[in-house]
Amino acid sequence: MLGKKTSILIDGKKMAAKIKDEIRARVAKLIDDHDTAPHLAAIIVGEDPASQTYVSSKEKAAQSVGIVSSVYRYPESTTQEELLTAIDFLNLDDTVDGFIVQLPLPKHIDVDKVIARIDPEKDVDGFHPVNVGKMALGQPGFVSATPAGIVELLKRYNIETEGKHVVVLGRSNIVGSPVSILLSKKTNPGNATVTLCHSKTVNMAEITRSADILICAIGQPLFVKANMIKPGAVVIDVGIHRIPAKNDKGYTIVGDVDYNEVSFKAGYLTPVPGGVGPMTIAMLLKSTLEAHLRKHQS
Ligand code: GUN
Repeated sequence: MLGKKTSILIDGKKMAAKIKDEIRARVAKLIDDHDTAPHLAAIIVGEDPASQTYVSSKEKAAQSVGIVSSVYRYPESTTQEELLTAIDFLNLDDTVDGFIVQLPLPKHIDVDKVIARIDPEKDVDGFHPVNVGKMALGQPGFVSATPAGIVELLKRYNIETEGKHVVVLGRSNIVGSPVSILLSKKTNPGNATVTLCHSKTVNMAEITRSADILICAIGQPLFVKANMIKPGAVVIDVGIHRIPAKNDKGYTIVGDVDYNEVSFKAGYLTPVPGGVGPMTIAMLLKSTLEAHLRKHQS
């Protein structure tokens, strides 16, 4: 209908494999030098299937690069106090370099209290207010893995951000807010003019059409259509959704972007799956290695 696809695919899977190769080599060198392997732990509460899948992927990826991985599984009925005690335990465990508490948590648990309890030096997710503050100030600390993965993709694909108009859809603490801060910093990638759109934004399509780089983290399947983008724009799709489909599985995975339409108009485009998702995991492993190195340097 629309002729030949024009976009260059941003292959997050391939790039993540390359980053994992680099981490694997660094870990092997540590072992050769008689150091211990880095250790990443994860806490998961409840049975949310998406969270179970994420945590297993992280575990497999860690093991594939030589990072030790342990997963602490707690039932849905776990109390906030029990979870805080589990965090204290990991904060004090010298063999653990970094750990994450998989989100979302059950409704009876106050997520802010939980995150605040994590030792910032072990907060490889970069969610603790100390690390968010450092990121905002441009100081070294841990940066949330998805925004870090997006920045790394732009860097490794040599996509210029300086002076560009970056439009971010979605203001979550995990993706939208931090990526908008990172790309507005005086750094490379960075130095962009950033507009952050959210549920109260008026005339969103007008804004997205002026984007040189559009980062979609709005959490709505197939939300971004071809008429919302500028020809040749760089489109980064952070969404991941299962929608019903008439195939053997009964579902298909899509992003926040209508790939079929947008791939005829964008200059660069990340696929779902295989775009931002694998980069998130690779960046978490990189932060774990970093946590290990920092601990052993001090
Ligand atoms: N839930 C969805 N993404 C993430 C993530 O990057 N870290 C954690 N801890 N939970 C998540």
